[in-house]
Amino acid sequence: NTCLSAMPKVKIGIIGGSGLNNPELLKNGVEKTVDTQFGQPSDVLIEGQIQGVDVVLLARHGRHHTINPTNVNYRANIWALKTLGCTHVIVSAAVGSLKEEIKPGQFVVPDSFIDRTTKRIQTFYDGSPNGLPGVCHIPMEPAFCPTTRKILLETAQELGLTVHPKGNLVVIEGPRFSSKAESNMYRSIGGSIIGMTLVPEVVLAKEAGLCYACVAMATDYDCWFDHVVDVPSVLATFKQNVDNIIKLFVNVIPRIAEQDWTDILANNELTVKNGIQSEQV
Ligand code: ADE
Repeated sequence: NTCLSAMPKVKIGIIGGSGLNNPELLKNGVEKTVDTQFGQPSDVLIEGQIQGVDVVLLARHGRHHTINPTNVNYRANIWALKTLGCTHVIVSAAVGSLKEEIKPGQFVVPDSFIDRTTKRIQTFYDGSPNGLPGVCHIPMEPAFCPTTRKILLETAQELGLTVHPKGNLVVIEGPRFSSKAESNMYRSIGGSIIGMTLVPEVVLAKEAGLCYACVAMATDYDCWFDHVVDVPSVLATFKQNVDNIIKLFVNVIPRIAEQDWTDILANNELTVKNGIQSEQV
């Protein structure tokens, strides 16, 4: 089929991904140590196939969860996925809920974010000898790839998961959780859910021209809801529901692969090109 063979082959990076490295899901898995001009990614990357589609798995916090959200080398992670030829990056994230109707165990496919981080490099174009040349003002609307979001959402709905179709993800520096006053402030400024890792990951994915989307799992009500947020309760909810994320990704991957992304990928590159300012105005 000439039409199919003309389609660019997709390769899907998956960040988060605990459980996806199960050899029953991942075929022909090979560990790849990638060193980048931005330093070391969080761990080795695992290349293989899920449902016959090329994928690359990366554990955001390292496979033993030793890297805190501030210290994750987001630039190396995204650059490594780009270097291995990824066209897409789909990620999972554990988040707190800032809205009563988003209940622990439920999913959200965020469509925007509010950045409250303070210590992270958000660009590859940083003016350093290792960085890319020029200054890049990348647009953040849409923050996520609309087509990849749509596939995540529709697949989650078909699988019968409770999924909220949009939401603003507040990203805090962490590693501490929010105070009650902060939590209420984030509610009042329009936050739907709260986490610690989406920024700068989403920004860098955009600078790299990747189709990026996130499925967030609410693990708790943050502390505005007179609710104690602690690691054991967050982990317990995450563990109860992680199989749903795996099921979702396993079903999303072939659906991404069956689409023609030629125009979207070209448009991503154009967005980056138009964001770069390399001469004085
Ligand atoms: N990750 C999971 N729950 C969270 C919360 N309440 N605040 C920030 N990050 C989180």
